[in-house]
Amino acid sequence: MSDLAPPEIGLWQAVEAEARAIFPRYGYEEIRTPSLEYTALFTRSIGDTTDVVQKEMYTFEDPGGRSLTLRPEGTAGVVRYLAGLGPEAAGRRLYYIGPMFRRERPQAGRKRQFHQLGAEALDPPCPAADVECIALQTHLLSAWGVRDATVEINTRGTPEDRAAVAKGLRDALEPRRKALCDDCNRRFDANVLRVLDCKQPTCQEAAAFLPPVTSFMAESSRAYLDEVCRLLDRLEMPYRLNPRLVRGLDYYVHTVWEITHDALGAQNTLSGGGRYRIELGGRALEGVGFAMGLERLMTALQAADIRPPEPDKPVWLVPLGDRARAVLFELAQTLRFRGVACGMALAGGSLKAQMRAANRAEASTAVLCGDRELDNGVFLLKNMTDGAQEELDLPALMQRLCG
Ligand code: HAM
Repeated sequence: MSDLAPPEIGLWQAVEAEARAIFPRYGYEEIRTPSLEYTALFTRSIGDTTDVVQKEMYTFEDPGGRSLTLRPEGTAGVVRYLAGLGPEAAGRRLYYIGPMFRRERPQAGRKRQFHQLGAEALDPPCPAADVECIALQTHLLSAWGVRDATVEINTRGTPEDRAAVAKGLRDALEPRRKALCDDCNRRFDANVLRVLDCKQPTCQEAAAFLPPVTSFMAESSRAYLDEVCRLLDRLEMPYRLNPRLVRGLDYYVHTVWEITHDALGAQNTLSGGGRYRIELGGRALEGVGFAMGLERLMTALQAADIRPPEPDKPVWLVPLGDRARAVLFELAQTLRFRGVACGMALAGGSLKAQMRAANRAEASTAVLCGDRELDNGVFLLKNMTDGAQEELDLPALMQRLCG
């Protein structure tokens, strides 16, 4: 887990501001759900045979005996909120930015507290809604200046396809079962799709021989994917069909995708998403969404040398003596109310020490004032770049600093 502090936080703020401007153009509003939820919410929605639920959740019992979990992802909490709205939830679109928690082995691109920027749109299955959701992510990436991201897509089919897909994969894997890792041997019976996700080289080799999951699905599921591809072509959005992409969460149906980026190394997935169906409180909620890992996004931005905009350089007020200190203390507040960033050594100090502080703060201008200036009703304005100085009365000073 890392602290996010200046100067890096500037890039985070710029990214978030851009996203907050773009989401409303697609009809999304912000939601902030709690970081802590009942454990059952995640086991039921993400699936209890997934790695996230089996190995990666921070789960504990509170003193009241309830099992709680730090959210490992954002979809479940948003869907819980929407389920509570009842029929009013239909068509709602929500986005979120915030910390998520997974007890993974820390490595480059993998944190135990990380941040996601994500979005969920409650919609019944519709290829255009899935494509719009992919287009929203590529829009965000291009607005942030990320180039060279690759979109990979596939389908998980419908819940009705699941039994046929699982049987087809088991039959095809059976001759190579001995080569699978221990985890995948367990997954073989419980959730064979997870074998396609396994990072062990022997399992990846075995998976390479498998027919695409679409070959076990109903014709209508393949037609849904074809329509998604047709619409992506129509928007001239490049993508790659990846028949082995299944994603690590079990709530997906139909379209799934990942966006990868070469600057990220081994953990090269910048964003993942798809269409889902989550049953909560006896009701099935259908939607489509994605989540982007912000730490990984920052790595991609830094690799492209993208920096946040420079903050305004402050005006530095330099009082010489107690009378001037009181006057400039008040002036500082007036300037800030007028939109000017400004600072001063609140306890005063020698001229030399205060000018050193002005340089440290990278001030654009300094305003010097002592007893002589107060008696004459003027301030000394010093340009910190070229050292030029001029005497101004208060109206002229305000005009100069506030424009
Ligand atoms: P996910 O693929 O588990 O999907 O996570 C989305 C993104 O979060 C990943 O692509 C990655 O960039 C980032 N991420 C995940 N784990 C870590 C980690 N330990 N450290 C750093 N970054 C990480 C979901 O979470 C789904 N809820 C996405 C979704 C929304 N599907 C539909 N709606």
